[in-house]
Amino acid sequence: MRFVILGAGAVGGTIGGRLADTGHEVVLLARGAHAQAIASHGLRLAMPDRVISVRVPVAERVDELDFRDGDVLVLTTKTHQTTQLLDELPRRDLPVVCAQNGVANERMAVRRFTAVYGVVVMLPAAFLEPGHVDAQGAPYSGLLDVGRYPHGSDDTATAVAAALARSGFVSNAVQDVMRWKYAKLLRNLGNAIQALCGVDMSDSDLEQVQELDALARAEAEACYRAAGIDWASDEEWTSHRGMQVQWTPVEGRDRAGGSTWQSLVRGSGLEVDYLNGEIVLLGRLHGVDTPVNRLLQVRAHDAARRGARPGEMRPFELLSALAR
Ligand SMILES: NC(=O)c1ccc[n+]([C@@H]2O[C@H](COP(=O)([O-])OP(=O)(O)OC[C@H]3O[C@@H](n4cnc5c(N)ncnc54)[C@H](OP(=O)(O)O)[C@@H]3O)[C@@H](O)[C@H]2O)c1
Repeated sequence: MRFVILGAGAVGGTIGGRLADTGHEVVLLARGAHAQAIASHGLRLAMPDRVISVRVPVAERVDELDFRDGDVLVLTTKTHQTTQLLDELPRRDLPVVCAQNGVANERMAVRRFTAVYGVVVMLPAAFLEPGHVDAQGAPYSGLLDVGRYPHGSDDTATAVAAALARSGFVSNAVQDVMRWKYAKLLRNLGNAIQALCGVDMSDSDLEQVQELDALARAEAEACYRAAGIDWASDEEWTSHRGMQVQWTPVEGRDRAGGSTWQSLVRGSGLEVDYLNGEIVLLGRLHGVDTPVNRLLQVRAHDAARRGARPGEMRPFELLSALAR
């Protein structure tokens, strides 16, 4: 089994780097200065306890990859980048594993590929400099449960989970991966707030962020109920997820923001249409009003379009906009 990591940024670099470090065959797809840095010096993967240089083949374009039987395609782009990449892939008979947030990637993939797998991604990582990825989880780099889409499991899910579990992740094959991914989506509705308001803030700002997050989440749960979508409860989440992946500083660096914050910093476009936007879509389809998620979607897009930096807004401005 060879792992073809499609989009070797924060998550893809961590997964590909750790798989390669335990002897699995890995190739990376990256682009621009990042791809060139990896080709010249290897991928520098910094973890809380050590730094490794990952020397594996890297391609800048899909047509430079020589796909073969036994390849597992691991999709680790942001969701707004998924369809463009899927459309370039020549071998639709290969399994596609979506190690991404949101619940939309699997549906995009299964429109084109037969064997599609979802992964619940709990993996704190940062990609802010070409050639460098910080994998900030400890004692494990991430929790990456794998399941066949739309449900069930099979030999591929089991083999992928086993390879990940040998490589510094907690990973099991699960029957109901989308139930967990809908629960994870609830935990990503605050990504846009973090990108807009930044990470350094006063206690009162933090309280308002928590208020916004709770409002966004309540809307999402109302949409799930209206749409008949099942999701893993908080109790299940806490008992299953445990404390096995704690954010831990890497080389003394302070915590950067999460993946949406990083996208805004790097100017690489936001996947907010598939996070808050997923809730807005469900609301429109099932007659649930979603003003908070709509506001976050619109404001985050606007910030990305203008090339704004994280932290340009205070949370009270978002709350005031809702009150108008
Ligand atoms: N980062 C985290 O801590 C974290 C945690 C949990 C879940 N996630 C989720 O995991 C997924 C991946 O996030 P991420 O933070 O790893 O994103 P990321 O750091 O932006 O990595 C994605 C990489 O894919 C590259 N890419 C996109 N399209 C490509 C193409 N056609 N050809 C070559 N390279 C391409 C991007 O290049 P460009 O930069 O040039 O666009 C980028 O290097 C997202 O769904 C995210 O929400 C992230």
